[in-house]
Amino acid sequence: MTEKIIALVTGANRGIGQEIARGLAVAGATVLVGARSTEAGRQAAEKLTADGLDATAVEVDVTDAESVARAARWVEDEFGRLDALVNNAGVLLERGQWPSQVPMEVLDRTYQVNVFGVIRMIDAMLPLLRRSAAGRIVNLSSGLGSFALTADSDHQFAKNPLLAYNSSKSALNAVTVSYANELRNTPIKVNSADPGYCATEMNGYGGTRTPAQGAIAAVRLATLPADGPTGGFFDEDGPHPW
Ligand SMILES: NC(=O)c1ccc[n+]([C@@H]2O[C@H](COP(=O)([O-])OP(=O)(O)OC[C@H]3O[C@@H](n4cnc5c(N)ncnc54)[C@H](OP(=O)(O)O)[C@@H]3O)[C@@H](O)[C@H]2O)c1
Repeated sequence: MTEKIIALVTGANRGIGQEIARGLAVAGATVLVGARSTEAGRQAAEKLTADGLDATAVEVDVTDAESVARAARWVEDEFGRLDALVNNAGVLLERGQWPSQVPMEVLDRTYQVNVFGVIRMIDAMLPLLRRSAAGRIVNLSSGLGSFALTADSDHQFAKNPLLAYNSSKSALNAVTVSYANELRNTPIKVNSADPGYCATEMNGYGGTRTPAQGAIAAVRLATLPADGPTGGFFDEDGPHPW
């Protein structure tokens, strides 16, 4: 019998993160449902366990170094290792402003979650991922972080430039490549996933895809085989333009 993989998903109490947690649990993982609210995490984990899936809530606010360190200590005490880290927690804080109108404070809060929060999580969990036979890190990026799409003036993504959000996801893609290069000679693989435009609270449920569809690429990247890619950007259909 093969050992169950231990997978931690941040921001798994709702939206795409909740569906990534479900998808990984359905695939046979023990899922650690990351949430910054203890109660929201407990309720989300209960939805999975009610369906016979293996899930436990873990409180983690990715902007809080002590919270992240506490979560890492808890994973170490409970499991001694981590096989997959899905950095799903993210924020979109600007609404229809042009780049020149976005306050620095919005940029700061966006980067604290979308970029620094991911780095904080990776650094805290890396010792546990190194103990895995097949560590996987997945960063939830966005097509809005793709230079290939946003720099194309004919593309719809160029028409509504979101300074903080888009640049945070471009930076996140650079974070993915940086860690993939550092870890290239280890079993750990690091990739970015684009879920596509999904109906969640982040966009007022305006997306055209379901959160479950949005979870497909991330679940696949979190369970890649040993000969799978690292340092890439993928959506459900395969490689995504940078
Ligand atoms: N929806 C889309 O169309 C779309 C497209 C491309 C990429 N994405 C990306 O996919 C990911 C999930 O998005 P979503 O649409 O599912 O968004 P969502 O419904 O707004 O969920 C965001 C999740 O992130 C959590 N979160 C926010 N700040 C956090 C923090 N400091 N620490 C821990 N958790 C925090 C939220 O927790 P609370 O409930 O406590 O606020 C929530 O669980 C994000 O990274 C997003 O940028 C989404």
